[in-house]
Amino acid sequence: MIGELEVAEAPGSVARPAGARNGMSSMKKVFIKTYGCQMNVYDSERMGEALAASGYGATDTPDDADLIILNTCHIREKAAEKVYSELGRIRDIKEARAATDRETVIAVAGCVAQAEGDEIVRRAPVVDLVIGPQSYHRLPDLIAQRRAGAKAVVETEFPEDDKFSHLPARPLGAKSGPARSPAVRSASAFLTIQEGCDKFCTFCVVPYTRGAEYSRGVAAITDEARRLVASGVREITLLGQNVNAYHGQGDDGRARSLPDLIRHLSDIDGLERLRYTTSHPHDMSDDLIAVHCDTPKLMPYLHLPFQAGSDRILAAMNRKHTAAHYVGLVGRVRAARPDIALSTDIIVGFPGETDADFEATLNIVRTIGFAQAYSFKYSPRPGTPAANMGGQVPELVKIERLARLKALLDAQQSLFNAQCIGRIMPVLFERHGRRDGQLIGRSPYLQSVHAEAAPTLVGRIIPVEIADAGPNSLSGVIRAA
Ligand code: SAH
Ligand code: SF4
Ligand code: F3S
Repeated sequence: MIGELEVAEAPGSVARPAGARNGMSSMKKVFIKTYGCQMNVYDSERMGEALAASGYGATDTPDDADLIILNTCHIREKAAEKVYSELGRIRDIKEARAATDRETVIAVAGCVAQAEGDEIVRRAPVVDLVIGPQSYHRLPDLIAQRRAGAKAVVETEFPEDDKFSHLPARPLGAKSGPARSPAVRSASAFLTIQEGCDKFCTFCVVPYTRGAEYSRGVAAITDEARRLVASGVREITLLGQNVNAYHGQGDDGRARSLPDLIRHLSDIDGLERLRYTTSHPHDMSDDLIAVHCDTPKLMPYLHLPFQAGSDRILAAMNRKHTAAHYVGLVGRVRAARPDIALSTDIIVGFPGETDADFEATLNIVRTIGFAQAYSFKYSPRPGTPAANMGGQVPELVKIERLARLKALLDAQQSLFNAQCIGRIMPVLFERHGRRDGQLIGRSPYLQSVHAEAAPTLVGRIIPVEIADAGPNSLSGVIRAA
């Protein structure tokens, strides 16, 4: 799972329902703002598509929207509180629209919706609909229910049936299918293959907000991947809270593992790159390590959170791995795929963390050397065991530890990027840069790469010679293939 959970402000995170456009005046419009992890980005796209199928167009401005959806994140306190300040702003929009006789339905979706349910309506009466992540296929019905009734609708059940089998199929590309947003789908897409978590790390809300671990079947995933490829997608990132615990059913009814699924999907013509995230060290099998060797379409990048370097803290976190296990695992991964770029998530200031425990975290980072990482101050979450543990670490200590850790991680990331200078890398171009004539793409190691390139190269993989490296991106010059 990604760590930087503030993707919402980026214009790219506003989901556009496929097959629907601005400018058709009779059409209702929806504005979706996404917070949190990639899974929420994926869910927002699926909600947008479900709404497009019931006649909603997309808008990038909430003032124009008949329906505003906040797709929220509950992982840390700051993430959850943001929603309430946003709802304050949205209340003003709703009132301004009401003054000109325009109705606005306000929906809160995602993990805050699941965790707080009715409480959201109590704190923010402007909210019309609260909908948990497992009920998105019911969105159009629930909106109708709200319009017909006087009271806010709160839906936070974990239904028996999975939402994926009830959501409309992904729209196909313009050439091969009917409804399709002219706003071209990016060359890179997310595909959720597994949801929920049974690990119960003591700091984490995910097992409560996303429910028990569930894996989608191979056929449904393959169909969705084919549709994405038909609509122009070249790279798919398979998503799951514990993606490497994947065990979905194959056509013969037997369970398939993540490496089985990766090998199977890599047979799809036109699909050039595969990635997966987020993995748990406990579920990193030998076969998954092997697939990094034997499947060229699988990119050499692994996000493998370790959270803390002290075994005492790892045990208190209920992480099911030790520091030595993690370091050994990374050694095996690197033996199989020496150039792999490693990424991780780390928490500082977990209850009871001493200076020596924190030093152990720094030591793991020094030992391994990460290409990229997310680090966080521990944030006590209501209902999780760690929130009630003794030895809560003072805020100032957390701030100081996080600053030291970040300085080390930033230096490692800059070094990793600098080492790329002079190499020729295949770059998948995804979008236009800020400067005219510039495109932005991704290297195999997930770095952003900027290059002067013709607009026709969006969606293509082109060799780029890396000429310069910053802390967060590379730039280079296109070379003939
Ligand atoms: N499934 C993933 C993580 C999902 S949450 C995994 O197992 O690694 C993404 C990251 O947020 C976590 O890896 C963790 O580093 C961080 N996180 C989760 N709960 C947190 C909390 N209460 N305080 C601070 N960081 C937290
Ligand atoms: Fe949260 Fe742990 Fe599950 Fe990851 S493995 S989602 S950190 S409980
Ligand atoms: Fe946040 Fe829920 Fe993802 S809590 S990190 S949006 S699973």
